[in-house]
Amino acid sequence: MPDSPVVIVSGGSRGLGLSLVRRLLARGDRVATFSRSGSKDLDALAAIHAENLFAGQLDAADSDAIRSFVATTASRFGGIDHAVANAAIAHEGVLATTRDDEIDSMLAVNVRGGIVFVRECVRTMLASGAVKGNRSITVVSSIVAESGSPGLTVYAATKAAMEGFARSLARELGPRQIRVNAIAPGFLETDLSASLSDSNRARIASRSALGRLGTPEDVVGSIEFLMSEHAGFMTGQTFGVEGGR
Ligand SMILES: NC(=O)c1ccc[n+]([C@@H]2O[C@H](COP(=O)([O-])OP(=O)(O)OC[C@H]3O[C@@H](n4cnc5c(N)ncnc54)[C@H](OP(=O)(O)O)[C@@H]3O)[C@@H](O)[C@H]2O)c1
Repeated sequence: MPDSPVVIVSGGSRGLGLSLVRRLLARGDRVATFSRSGSKDLDALAAIHAENLFAGQLDAADSDAIRSFVATTASRFGGIDHAVANAAIAHEGVLATTRDDEIDSMLAVNVRGGIVFVRECVRTMLASGAVKGNRSITVVSSIVAESGSPGLTVYAATKAAMEGFARSLARELGPRQIRVNAIAPGFLETDLSASLSDSNRARIASRSALGRLGTPEDVVGSIEFLMSEHAGFMTGQTFGVEGGR
């Protein structure tokens, strides 16, 4: 029987990343994930899937720590088949009152951290030499990269940057048959959106065709699809998962 796929997901302790890690483990994949802090939910998964889950604690802004985590993942599982750049932060507030440190931290985690994470995964994938079967990189963007949103200007800029990154990387890695796509969720019920007021939440929900905010489970299936052979001829694109605009 062939080995199960190895998937590395940044930011798997909560929210969308945690739901993805849970789904991948349930189908038998070998999964590595990191975040700054652990979580009880991730500990519970580690207790059940001790062999198949490798979880670390590190800051996505720390390039050395990412390099070491990706290298350890590859040596522990014998390579990396799929990478999902999911970890991100958002500071909400109008641009005029946004501080330098808030801008710096969003750029450091969402853009630099995402790019360094993907670069390390790509180096590992390319180091394995042969053009292997199904390999992919998925970048988690956001609906606001395209739609815009007041109070999320810098966050939206970081997500737009990562969509551009994914499009160019798809061209770079196409000859090696590594597909690169971005997924752009609408607002989700997670810690990241917890600060939304009830009226904002209702307004956002009423704007979508389906009339509700998304859940991580609404998005996980789309990421699974992009990783799968069913998406074998899809690369360099951004796919909206936002309940219809
Ligand atoms: N929630 C939404 O409405 C929404 C909408 C569209 C797109 N998205 C995107 O979906 C992805 C997941 O968002 P989410 O809602 O699941 O967010 P979340 O609930 O806040 O979870 C974010 C995850 O990333 C980790 N993380 C954050 N900063 C990190 C850092 N510096 N280093 C390492 N790990 C870090 C967090 O763990 P630690 O805090 O312990 O580090 C956590 O595991 C993000 O890319 C986000 O931009 C979210």
